[in-house]
Amino acid sequence: MTVLVTGGAGYIGSHTLVCLLDLGYEVVVYDNLVNSSVKALRRVEEITGKNLEFVEGDVTDSGALDDLFAKYSIDAVIHFAALKAVGESSQLPLQYYETNVYGSLCLLNAMKKAGVNHFVYSSSATVYGEVNPSPYVETMELGSPSSPYGASKVMVERILADAVRVNPKFRAISLRYFNPIGAHPSGLIGEDPLGVPNNLLPFITQVAVGVRGNLSVFGGDYPTADGTCVRDYLHVMDLAEGHVAAIDWLAEQSNFNGVEAFNLGTGTGVSVLEIIASFEAATCQKINFEIVERRAGDLPAFWANAEKADKVLNWQAKRSLSEMMEDAWRWQSKNPNGFS
Ligand code: NAD
Ligand code: UFG
Repeated sequence: MTVLVTGGAGYIGSHTLVCLLDLGYEVVVYDNLVNSSVKALRRVEEITGKNLEFVEGDVTDSGALDDLFAKYSIDAVIHFAALKAVGESSQLPLQYYETNVYGSLCLLNAMKKAGVNHFVYSSSATVYGEVNPSPYVETMELGSPSSPYGASKVMVERILADAVRVNPKFRAISLRYFNPIGAHPSGLIGEDPLGVPNNLLPFITQVAVGVRGNLSVFGGDYPTADGTCVRDYLHVMDLAEGHVAAIDWLAEQSNFNGVEAFNLGTGTGVSVLEIIASFEAATCQKINFEIVERRAGDLPAFWANAEKADKVLNWQAKRSLSEMMEDAWRWQSKNPNGFS
């Protein structure tokens, strides 16, 4: 089976490539490298001992997508390519909607023309918005996320629901990720944010490696056990395996026409202070931090109900919090400046 992986050079995409190649899938990566490096792809080849095809291009370039589907015989698509900085999306809403929504439309249209009918979409827990209580369950009504980033994820889920109705052969899965952290245990690939990291774990590992000073903990007065925000952190390799489970499930359903959403998380909430303590315990590195003002837009606490993925996809997040910390630290300490 040949899988087209858009955004495959990025953080989650590169880890998913390792799983796909290890299991014998052929992969074609399509990425414009706006937030990634081709070195990640070479490292994936080093880890797996397999070759992959890479085409540099933009998901908003319909002509290039048509050429791609004409050149390769694609069986299924995993669509990671997107812009993902929640805060930046409020500054650059049109750019975010163009890449995340219009880019997805261009891809879906190219798939339709080429007769490719299996689609796995990178959605996010952010689609549940502020209105739903945790644990989030897939049957909940989608919320109205405040950021253009979050809104773009809701819009594409909505587009998929309409697209499957009019094409009886089309089937899709939206994977709603909670908070992926960690890295491949080889330390050869990992999260490599441009500039100052927005996300907690890359900030912590950059403090530990000496690239940053103190960690700012955003808010210590939330209505949680220790006053800091609670999230559902999962190992990126567990998340990567969820994509293979999704691809396999789509291939196995002989008569399925529709879109299914699955939460991919551990089902357990962990606070920011617990993350710091866990990192320190797993790596023997001290993290200097101070508690500062809340960050605009942060929800106090959310975590997944991941029973549907377990029952239907036979997928569970298996790796422990300390493995997440050890693997994140191995990647950062072996690559203090990421891929550059
Ligand atoms: P990432 O930035 O590391 O990877 C995204 C990849 O898409 C990058 O390689 C980038 O170069 C590429 N890309 C961006 N715009 C493109 C375009 N116009 N054309 C072609 N390629 C383009 O991000 P990630 O963390 O690996 O996230 C992957 C997906 O998962 C995204 O859709 C993101 O919104 C979603 N997601 C991520 C998280 C998270 O915490 N990392 C959480 C929920 C959902
Ligand atoms: N945090 C800090 N200091 C930092 C960075 C983060 O205290 O320097 C805190 C945040 O306030 C939050 C927690 O750490 O309480 C986690 O923050 P992240 O930015 O790592 O993750 P978020 O839960 O805010 O965002 C993630 C993804 C988004 C997605 C969202 C909802 O990055 O793409 O989950 O699914 F939209």
